[in-house]
Amino acid sequence: MKRDITETILEDWLENVSSFAYDGQVANYIPALSKQDPENLAVAIHYINGERICAGRSDVSFTLQSISKVIALALALMDNGEDYVFDRVGMEPTGDPFHSIYRLEQHRPFKPLNPMINAGALAVSHMIHGDTPEEKVGRLLSFIHEMTDDHSISYNREVASSEFETAFLNRSLLFYMKQHQIVTGSVEETLDAYTKQCSIELNVKQLARIGALFANEGRDLESGRRIIPKHLARICKTFMVTCGMYDASGSFAIKVGIPAKSGVSGAVLGSLNGFGGIAVYGPSLDEKGNSVVGMRLLELLSNRYDLSIF
Ligand code: DON
Repeated sequence: MKRDITETILEDWLENVSSFAYDGQVANYIPALSKQDPENLAVAIHYINGERICAGRSDVSFTLQSISKVIALALALMDNGEDYVFDRVGMEPTGDPFHSIYRLEQHRPFKPLNPMINAGALAVSHMIHGDTPEEKVGRLLSFIHEMTDDHSISYNREVASSEFETAFLNRSLLFYMKQHQIVTGSVEETLDAYTKQCSIELNVKQLARIGALFANEGRDLESGRRIIPKHLARICKTFMVTCGMYDASGSFAIKVGIPAKSGVSGAVLGSLNGFGGIAVYGPSLDEKGNSVVGMRLLELLSNRYDLSIF
């Protein structure tokens, strides 16, 4: 039943939701993102048996933004182990916007509530092994190359510097966390690594393959080689369920029920055990920072093909 989704069906569903391309707004708080074309809509499904279907402008690249938080978390967990990471970043959803600062004051002992909000993700970026921002981002890129079997993937320098120059709130989060020893060293260097991480560029086909690898419990789809330990892939997918769509995670779980992570570029990554990865791109965002077209398309697909994990 689930595998009945064909490329023609996917084209039709994407066409169905394309009328929402101008609902919401393209992100502009990172100035370079405002150049995105709201009509660049695309979707890809990568099944765990290696088959792939796609529709729309599936060759158009976008930056990962917050989707990178899931991948960075996997690498930070592999680099440092669970105890180290979760001694410094919590596991609880917030129900707050992704850049919210105010809960940082409320918890003792101090730590950001989870690795999907910006504060937690900045701390996770800091934990990735590497002496310089370049080394950290280089290791993250190598990890993505391994997951996608595509060594051409890099980061978008214009988007990275556009965010770096305007990320005053993320700087504040880092200074606050430095005060509480969650991060150490240079705030500017950690922000540099984080903004480059967020600017890693992929298209929906490459992203869906990453979703499929998580769905395949961290094993490469072709060789079966383990790239992420099973229990760490599971932790990442669990965060996608509880915190992946920020303060829309609860309603998304009810309406769609697919472990998913969104980014302010308008991309959404879904990962479904035993099925595969789904990547959707549509730059217009709702007020919570999630792709309008992406949310609608995932809801339609989930309801029609009974994809919810619940
Ligand atoms: O830190 C930021 O604000 C961006 N680089 C990422 C935010 C983001 O993608 C939130 N997701 N919906």
